[in-house]
Amino acid sequence: MKTAALADGFGLEIRHEGNAGLLASAKDELLPLLYEHKVLVIRDAAFTLPEFVAFGRNLGRLRTFVDVSHNHPDYPEVFVVANAPINDKIIGMDRVGLYWHTDQSFLKEPQPISMLLAHEVPERGGETSFVNMNSVYRALPDGLKAVLSERVGLHDGFPKYILTAQDAGLTVDELKARDRKLCPPVMHPAIIRHRISRQPIVYLNPGFTQAVVGLEAAESDRVLAEVFKEVENPRHRYTHRWSPRDLVLWDNRATLHKAATPSQGARRIMYRLGIEDGGFFE
Ligand SMILES: [Fe+2]
Repeated sequence: MKTAALADGFGLEIRHEGNAGLLASAKDELLPLLYEHKVLVIRDAAFTLPEFVAFGRNLGRLRTFVDVSHNHPDYPEVFVVANAPINDKIIGMDRVGLYWHTDQSFLKEPQPISMLLAHEVPERGGETSFVNMNSVYRALPDGLKAVLSERVGLHDGFPKYILTAQDAGLTVDELKARDRKLCPPVMHPAIIRHRISRQPIVYLNPGFTQAVVGLEAAESDRVLAEVFKEVENPRHRYTHRWSPRDLVLWDNRATLHKAATPSQGARRIMYRLGIEDGGFFE
């Protein structure tokens, strides 16, 4: 297996010889590389869907997406990101994650690893960008690090919830009440230590973090704005431009990501798996 750096100290491209090698090396070789580099890009991963699922299983336990209506009918572990039909049926969800976030930070146990396999992608548009949150931590002033190290962030997925057909007929209040029951807001330390790499990481994101608990609202907003300004600094970022058969894995403990919409009218079909590799936090 050959490798090449993608961005300054962040992200690694894996060059492999055939899918059998990829399947065999998943746990022992790829996982340590993922923890070290946070994002792995494997080009030309010509996986069928059952091979993709087997590859995911070799990395850890698969986590099925909560809203099953967008899961593949034959492979329910696979969440479909698509704006085009599969077997003549629209099952995929499009317009997902168009803001900086880390997957499921609004859950008590977020999903540690996510991966996307590109089946059909537009020539332009639809990129996915990643931010190295250890690098963001190192860039913050010491005073801000000290404030954050004693605080927890409040995370809530409801403001980003995308309505589906099954929500038709519900009022906003009914939706909110259902969401509060299914998915109440949660608190996580604002700074975490990565369970495996041991690196300090800012675990706050613009998509789901509503506040820093224990600070006055104005102070909380100011602190979050300062952190999120650093998130926007391009020196912490890698942007992936997709080609068919690209397989990209990322570590949700150590990164944020954001999707861009594909250009108007361009078809896109991608498959996503969620992986559990043990507890998310220490
Ligand atoms: Fe995401």
